[in-house]
Amino acid sequence: MDRPPIIKVENLVKKFGNITAVRGIGFEVEEGSIFGFLGPNGAGKTTTINVLCTLLSPTSGSASIDGHDCMKQSALVRKSIGIVFQDTTLDKDLTAFENLSFHAYLYGVKKTEIKGRVDEALKFVNLYERKNDLVKKFSGGMKRRLEVTRGLIHRPRVLFLDEPTLGLDPQSRTNLWEFITELPRRHNVTIFMTTHYMEEAEVCNRIAIIDEGKIIAEGSPVELKKTVGGDVIYLSTTDNEGSLEILKRTLGLDASIKDCELYISTERADACLPELIRTLADRVLEVRIKKPTLNDVFLKLTGKAIREEGAGATDTIKEAVRAYRRRH
Ligand SMILES: Nc1ncnc2c1ncn2[C@@H]1O[C@H](COP(=O)(O)OP(=O)(O)OP(=O)(O)O)[C@@H](O)[C@H]1O
Ligand SMILES: [Mg+2]
Repeated sequence: MDRPPIIKVENLVKKFGNITAVRGIGFEVEEGSIFGFLGPNGAGKTTTINVLCTLLSPTSGSASIDGHDCMKQSALVRKSIGIVFQDTTLDKDLTAFENLSFHAYLYGVKKTEIKGRVDEALKFVNLYERKNDLVKKFSGGMKRRLEVTRGLIHRPRVLFLDEPTLGLDPQSRTNLWEFITELPRRHNVTIFMTTHYMEEAEVCNRIAIIDEGKIIAEGSPVELKKTVGGDVIYLSTTDNEGSLEILKRTLGLDASIKDCELYISTERADACLPELIRTLADRVLEVRIKKPTLNDVFLKLTGKAIREEGAGATDTIKEAVRAYRRRH
């Protein structure tokens, strides 16, 4: 860590009756970073956020934000944080301007400063032109942008985003991410976020993966992907048997034939690919490279895919089709 931790969590436990939602977790979040808290449904993500945001008291353990104890100094913690909840909390019968003004007022922003801040916040998310429209007329993406900017209106040090892109179409998700990733630089804010979308977590500086109330892995996206091993090269050739011999004997690669394709496991595909293609030359028909994804990490650690989509899902479908063909 280059900068001091702004969030510190130690041995945090939260029980609801006989359900233990969080089982003794600990982590630190560096100031000015984007920290991703990932896990399947019911893993304990929202519970952890609620404890950090002082909305729930933990059963045991400790947590602090910007040096303030989340249990004993809740008023100071609340001043230091902004929250975008998993479920929307905008008032749909108020305008965009009114929603933000009310929030600024609640957070004690000076009356004379409210209008300026709200206008600035609306401009930041390209909603200034729509400031006098009722929120119920907004699309899902517009509402999400409004909520994120609302969370920033009192200039918090840490912004919690619980599933910020839930229910958005891919384009709105991309737009929202472009804006979220700007926040640490533009507002000097630290982001603590949860998501089910593994490809979104690629933007995080650090990630903690939580499953059944326990942190099962922590690291940067690159570090986590390294734990699943290297790249895979899929190769179609005019003569797979002959090519396999060459790959193994001449190039010393870890190759095998799977489903009428050559399958090569390697640390880094880009390091061996030029020589491989040079050696096999005209035999090569098609080459595909699959780099490990965060979804592979998740799959390996928890035995379940966090959400099957994108490249992962395509591979799963392809595999299912191949299995079907083998049987019929
Ligand atoms: N107020 C509550 N009372 C009882 N049990 C609760 C309460 N809040 C959460 N839980 C339980 O705690 C566990 C963790 O829930 P939590 O909402 O933290 O999960 P999550 O990781 O945020 O899941 P999701 O991805 O679905 O949002 C679940 O088993 C849930 O049923
Ligand atoms: Mg949740």
